[in-house]
Amino acid sequence: MSATAAEAPAPPVVDRAELPPGPRLPKPIQTLRFIRDPVSFFEGCAERYGDAFTLRLYGPGNVVVVSDPPSLKRLFAADGVNTIAPGRNILLRPLLGPRSVLLLDNGPEHLRRRKLMLPQFHGERMRAYENVIAQATRRQVDAWPEGEPFPLHPAMQAITLEVIVRAVFGVEDSGRRRELSEQLVEILATTQSPRAVGLASNRLQRLPPLRETTARIARVDQLLADEISRRRSDPELGDRADILSMLVAARFEDGSAMDDREVRDQLMTLLVAGHETTATSLAWAFDLLFRRPDAMERLRAETEAGEEGYLDAVIAETLRLRPVVPFTGRLLREPATMGGHELPAGAVVLAGIYLAHMRDDVYPQARSFRPERFLEGAPETYSWVPFGGGTRRCLGAAFAQFEMKVALRTILRRAVLRPATDDPEPIVRRNVTFAPAGGTGAVLERRL
Ligand code: HEM
Repeated sequence: MSATAAEAPAPPVVDRAELPPGPRLPKPIQTLRFIRDPVSFFEGCAERYGDAFTLRLYGPGNVVVVSDPPSLKRLFAADGVNTIAPGRNILLRPLLGPRSVLLLDNGPEHLRRRKLMLPQFHGERMRAYENVIAQATRRQVDAWPEGEPFPLHPAMQAITLEVIVRAVFGVEDSGRRRELSEQLVEILATTQSPRAVGLASNRLQRLPPLRETTARIARVDQLLADEISRRRSDPELGDRADILSMLVAARFEDGSAMDDREVRDQLMTLLVAGHETTATSLAWAFDLLFRRPDAMERLRAETEAGEEGYLDAVIAETLRLRPVVPFTGRLLREPATMGGHELPAGAVVLAGIYLAHMRDDVYPQARSFRPERFLEGAPETYSWVPFGGGTRRCLGAAFAQFEMKVALRTILRRAVLRPATDDPEPIVRRNVTFAPAGGTGAVLERRL
């Protein structure tokens, strides 16, 4: 039997010669391209080197990118042996804390937390949040200016933030909700900028401008601690539907509960993992629909008639063509064959989510937005992986898809939007996500 990641010794250092070929550009250039124009860099490498190629990057070092379904299956199925790539969201560690389910290495501690948290994100449970999502969306739509361009991306961020503060944190008092949201917006803005590097250093944290962020984090911690203590003494805890209440009430297999600090860390994790990703996916959905007015009209008509099939297909196709998390990494603890190459233990492998979705052999006319393709049947396993896979698969996948569904439906029933420009948005990297470069400009033609 294989050792678990927690018991496994440190992986051996891997010799570049043992890895698949890749671009010969100097490391600084590769790193710059990986950061600045990842789409053309990835696509160029896949075209030239095929199903597996190696990049040389500052930080993670040599990383092998794979994107064919059999390799992804092998990679995700081996999560019981492998672990996450070193440096997963290293910038976020000071904000999320060491026990964050996103950051723990694979092994028993990570699995215990997933087991405790996963049932709370079950598809059926999400229905309890329908009103919260619809209300947050309606509030936004009602504030949009009529007849003049405005960016949809920040509007979607406002919706997903309100949903998290209400559905995940369960904050009911509007004053507390406002303060928490204002602080979180500022903190999240810092995590998007290179300044976030300084949060990991005790010394840099004390210097302006990070001093302000550190103070904001302390204030949020206080607000969350108050919220947690209110929940611990709430006699009606069992009847509450918010995720915070469920985290407080849940028990590990040995009967113990999460302590306050850990509850706080998992809440911040859900915020950081779930807010920007869902908002960006919603912005992409509109950017793609804007370029296919016939699809927008079909969606509007079917939504009006109370049908959901095309709406589900639009969401699946948006997550395929614009996967906001374009790759996710693993560190191999055992050798494995992927993309036709024998990879040694110690290799860092990126599941190329974006590349997997662009394969013409799996998706004919892969670069076109064709929601219809998802009406024709489910995609081949491991060819549609916007939420990753294995024991690290996104905990909030059902939540995100449900939120997208309710928000899209609510917007279409309440507003007629047109694009502010003729051109589709280029993809830019924002932190770990692929986002629309110009914020998805839209014009509200009329309210319905
Ligand atoms: C469209 C929206 C979203 C996308 C595309 C997305 C995508 C992803 C991806 C690719 C991963 C890494 C999976 C892997 O390594 O195999 C991930 C992890 C995670 N996501 Fe999401 N996510 C989204 C929304 C959410 C939401 C709404 C939440 C919670 C409210 C959430 C919570 C998490 C957590 C906790 C993890 C870490 C899981 C672990 O390491 O065990 N995500 N997500």
